Amino acid sequence: MANLWSGRFSGEPDPVAFEFGSSFRFDRRLFEDDVTGSLAWVEGLAGAGVFGKAEAEKVSAALADILERGRREATFIDGPDEDVHAFVERQLVERVGDLGKRLHTGRSRNEQVSLDLRLYLRRRIPALQQHVASVIGALARKAEAAGPAVMPSYTHLRRAMPVLVSHFFLAHVAALRRDHERLAWASHEADAMPLGSGAVAGTNYAMDTAMLASRLGFSRVVANSIDASSDRDFVAAFLHACAMLMVHLSRLSEDLIIFCGEEHGFFQLSDASSTGSSMMPQKKNPDPLELIRGKSGRLIGHLAGWMATMKGLPSGYNKDLQEDKEAVFDAEDNVAGALATLVGVVDGLEIFPATTTAAASGLLLATDVADFLVGKGMPFREAHEVVGGMVRQLLAEGRDFGALTLPEWQRHSPLFDESVRGVINPDASVRARKTPQSTRPEAVFAALAEVNGWLRRLGAP
Ligand code: ARG
Repeated sequence: MANLWSGRFSGEPDPVAFEFGSSFRFDRRLFEDDVTGSLAWVEGLAGAGVFGKAEAEKVSAALADILERGRREATFIDGPDEDVHAFVERQLVERVGDLGKRLHTGRSRNEQVSLDLRLYLRRRIPALQQHVASVIGALARKAEAAGPAVMPSYTHLRRAMPVLVSHFFLAHVAALRRDHERLAWASHEADAMPLGSGAVAGTNYAMDTAMLASRLGFSRVVANSIDASSDRDFVAAFLHACAMLMVHLSRLSEDLIIFCGEEHGFFQLSDASSTGSSMMPQKKNPDPLELIRGKSGRLIGHLAGWMATMKGLPSGYNKDLQEDKEAVFDAEDNVAGALATLVGVVDGLEIFPATTTAAASGLLLATDVADFLVGKGMPFREAHEVVGGMVRQLLAEGRDFGALTLPEWQRHSPLFDESVRGVINPDASVRARKTPQSTRPEAVFAALAEVNGWLRRLGAP
């Protein structure tokens, strides 16, 4: 079969090498964007006088027909073609003959593939953002449902200070909000129209690039044709947004795996989001969460792999760039799958407030005891020392602050008085926080209201 470049060659390409270099099996996913780009290109060619009005209309109608057929019938997008660009051109020539052979005038696949992938990402990123918003919605619902329940917060995976359970869920929301923005940034990076760059040096036809950009929904045209032929920064930005997002999902998964385990028992996964063991009847495993954690490695791999592919490229298009698409598609599929799965996991999570509250009581109130002394005028460093001594003794005796009588308190410092008992408990501890980002209940409710407002503005379900 003749391909898009066979004229220069005397024989057939080595079928193994041709197959190796073909991208149709994966870039068929760009079908819709390829046709969209060509529809605009026809208009550009008509403006430049390459097509007469009637000719342009005929080619456009055939392209519209190809688009409609491909949308309706996925199996239509198939054949021995090298890539999706060759496929669309073959279909066009089959429909309009020689006229179709003029479509590629002044255009290169180098700019075409860049355009297609930019269009694809700008079309698909909003769907991923919606998935992110759905997980944020599920976390916000869980935060709401947790009400005034407290749990320990951790540093070094050791109990640190009491926090509201809702504060914990909103912590993950805060990270996901950044991911949502990072995806918007990737879309912004992709927002530059490359047509008119030709293979690398530009095109000889008077293409109205501003018209092409606005027709295709871009806010700007690329600045330099050489740069444009190999610029895939927008791919790196997208893969980074996906890798970072997946790192956050992995950390959320890890938290839930730990907190749902027998050792913590803070939350419980729904049966629907768990799996059993083929051997041990008692097991209820968090497989979906482990798989998300596992897949984060794969997503980091896509980013690292792509950066490695880009780093050694000489200026201008190189075939290495074809590697961008499989990374992008796989990243998209896996991130979307992980996000969709997490909505169910989070929605199905049961919270056990008695367990979380019990875990938030005891020696993790030590900082509050020190702050009590500071309130009575003791320098913090000194208070830290006094309370450290109390902790040492309580640990040795297997007791905690709640068990101390007033004389015992006062043996450690005369600054302690009756009021200490009312403030050394988890509820008082969270209420004692003062800053807007803290676990102070008013601050957490305000943060939750802000998240719900954001979701409403997005029109999230
Ligand atoms: N399949 C190619 C890619 O994905 C399209 C561009 C081919 N250009 C070329 N000069 N071989 O990058």
